[in-house]
Amino acid sequence: MSDTFILNGKETPYTPGQMILEAAKVGGIEIPTLCYLKGSTPTGACRICLVEVKGARSLMAACSTPVTPGMEVFTETALVHQARKLNVELLLSSGTHNCLTCEANGNCRLQDLAYFYKITDLRFEEKAASDIYPKEDRNPLIVRDFSRCILCGRCVQACNEVMVNRAISQGYRGKESKIVTGGDLPYHESECVFCGQCVEVCPVGALTEKKAKGLGRPWEIKKIRTTCPYCGVGCQQWLHVKDGKIVKVTAVEDAQPNMGRLCVKGRFAYDFIYSEERLKTPLIREANGEFREASWDEALDLVAEKFKEIIKKDGPDAIAGVSCARSINEDSYQMQKFFRAVIGTNNIDHCART
Ligand code: SF4
Ligand code: SF4
Ligand code: SF4
Ligand code: FES
Repeated sequence: MSDTFILNGKETPYTPGQMILEAAKVGGIEIPTLCYLKGSTPTGACRICLVEVKGARSLMAACSTPVTPGMEVFTETALVHQARKLNVELLLSSGTHNCLTCEANGNCRLQDLAYFYKITDLRFEEKAASDIYPKEDRNPLIVRDFSRCILCGRCVQACNEVMVNRAISQGYRGKESKIVTGGDLPYHESECVFCGQCVEVCPVGALTEKKAKGLGRPWEIKKIRTTCPYCGVGCQQWLHVKDGKIVKVTAVEDAQPNMGRLCVKGRFAYDFIYSEERLKTPLIREANGEFREASWDEALDLVAEKFKEIIKKDGPDAIAGVSCARSINEDSYQMQKFFRAVIGTNNIDHCART
């Protein structure tokens, strides 16, 4: 017989070691979260996931409280909603949240929660965090707006536990608290490798993609799933497209092989698609050193002819091939097959080995 606990009056199974949040989800109850990041150590920072546990002296954070046998949990009581609402109000007052000017407008969990709790007036005075830490907009990829940061710590978890880049951490204390890089340097002068995972997980508008700024609101965007074109790993990504143009790229959560991660190339390096300098046809270098455009048939015929000439004169080992790491694995396999079986040489390598 499996272990059970009582969830909103209903006997519900759970796996030993499971937190209330996860067990409730399996039991069909969604508990709202802000700081919880699947797959990392719970920090219990935001207190949005509060639930009532019978016998407990205070409300408990569902993301970091393990279920115990027979535990009675209530997720929808008046007390729970009162506490969650208060915490949303406090978070709204912890910075400057003027949604109209925010890139995250329409894609912000704090905004969703404020809407859910029908918060229309701010009971507490807003703290102008921007007075302490001005917006960091000095690198070409990521904007850090500290006035919208709710210090949930998801970016830190993503950087340290998901990507294991260890570029950021919680810094300073009290009202001066801030997410910092080593030495509190701007991202581009720090250990940050610009994978953008912190942006991906930020639940509000504190970290945003600079290149996407002003190019489309979430409700105007169509998300198209694709495989990253950069290497043979095959990471799954969403292209955010407006009017046929890619606005930004995010990772597909829970999809193999990347499980919600992307590297700097997959996430940010899509500009080449629209580059004026992009090669769209083969180029053949003439005897005078100048390139001229050619058809694929002409170019491939020329290469085959040159291969035959070289093999005839110096043998197949006079030719070597280097397969491209940006190719899919099947293409790399075919490349080595072509070199060994057709050309007749073992001079075949792959640039990822460098
Ligand atoms: S972070 Fe969210 S709540 Fe704050 S201004 Fe932006 S959209 Fe509004
Ligand atoms: S971009 Fe990547 S490396 Fe840089 S802080 Fe964010 S998660 Fe860490
Ligand atoms: S930058 Fe975003 S993810 Fe990081 S602590 Fe602030 S609100 Fe949370
Ligand atoms: S989600 Fe549980 S404390 Fe933030």
